[in-house]
Amino acid sequence: MEKILLLHGPNLNMLGKREPAVYGRQTLDDIVAAAGSLATELGVEVASYQSNVEGDLVTKIQVAASEFDAIVFNPGAYTHTSIALRDAVLAAGLPVVEVHLSNVHKREEFRHRSFLAGVVEGQVVGFGAESYLLGLRAAVSILRSRRPVPPRARPARKRSTR
Ligand code: DQA
Repeated sequence: MEKILLLHGPNLNMLGKREPAVYGRQTLDDIVAAAGSLATELGVEVASYQSNVEGDLVTKIQVAASEFDAIVFNPGAYTHTSIALRDAVLAAGLPVVEVHLSNVHKREEFRHRSFLAGVVEGQVVGFGAESYLLGLRAAVSILRSRRPVPPRARPARKRSTR
């Protein structure tokens, strides 16, 4: 069964209380529970980790490379500042889906730039808690479409004409 890490950056532990007009009233636990139900439906396993500390997130991504198949990542404000997280994602070599609750492109200009954007599979932004669920679906479909074709189903190799 595929294992997917839900990774959350700074201040996301404050969801529910933090700027509800922007981020909604659901807590991080609510979001993780909803992702857990979807994971069961999709037949994957999820685990969740939140940190306010950039280095802890880097370490978690490094460790995740050998423990997980993909990451659904909301890097919070580090999205807009962190080369270290970008490098960690590159080094891990896992498919990563970047998610944001808010539509960062509709907000302040400094939120328009993501240092992660160039190294992730794709981004889901602006759907509130649903961004995580869409991100999880995307991660599962990426993993399943990459699964190697079983040898018997593989088309016969073309012989070289030379
Ligand atoms: C966020 C957007 C970031 O700009 C912000 O710093 C956050 C949350 C989002 O989910 O919308 O902390 O990542």
